[in-house]
Amino acid sequence: MEGFETHVVDSLIDDHRYILQALDVLEESVELLAQGRLPPSTVARLARFLEEFADGCHHAKEEAALFPCMEARGHPFREGGLKRLTCDHGVARYLLRGLLLELEKLERGEGSVERVKGYAARYVELIRRHIDYEDLEVFEEARRLVAHGEMVGEAGRIDRETGRDRLIDEFYRLRDEVERAGG
Ligand SMILES: [Fe+2]
Ligand SMILES: [Fe+2]
Repeated sequence: MEGFETHVVDSLIDDHRYILQALDVLEESVELLAQGRLPPSTVARLARFLEEFADGCHHAKEEAALFPCMEARGHPFREGGLKRLTCDHGVARYLLRGLLLELEKLERGEGSVERVKGYAARYVELIRRHIDYEDLEVFEEARRLVAHGEMVGEAGRIDRETGRDRLIDEFYRLRDEVERAGG
């Protein structure tokens, strides 16, 4: 039976692995951009990957599948609960938007590399801290509250609808491009 053996948290931790790699590549790509060794369009493709993968796919699975299930079983929304995590998702979305707008301006010869660096640094710092908190605390609690197989189908549907596999292929291409530019 599909998903019977897996826990929904396992797929979310797998997503975190890709997101953390993408943060490293984003930092590297912004450095190369500042040195004039990578065009803004490549950094923008990376930001769009994070928009589609981290926000569109991964945060959607947390907000639509895992968090409501935890909340229904008594995990608090407010004090020390899920509110902080969903707020982080919103702030991350805002920072990525800002990053993309600044990169588009750079392509038109108007933007500021310093502002690109600022948006990227705040995004990277926020998401690393957020993932640490989820991995070490929230997901441990999720394993106690949610049974194996539960919500796995829902998460899989979101993966398919958001093109998770295609997005990961795009990420590998981007990572190679940035590595080549870095020499
Ligand atoms: Fe999250
Ligand atoms: Fe997460």
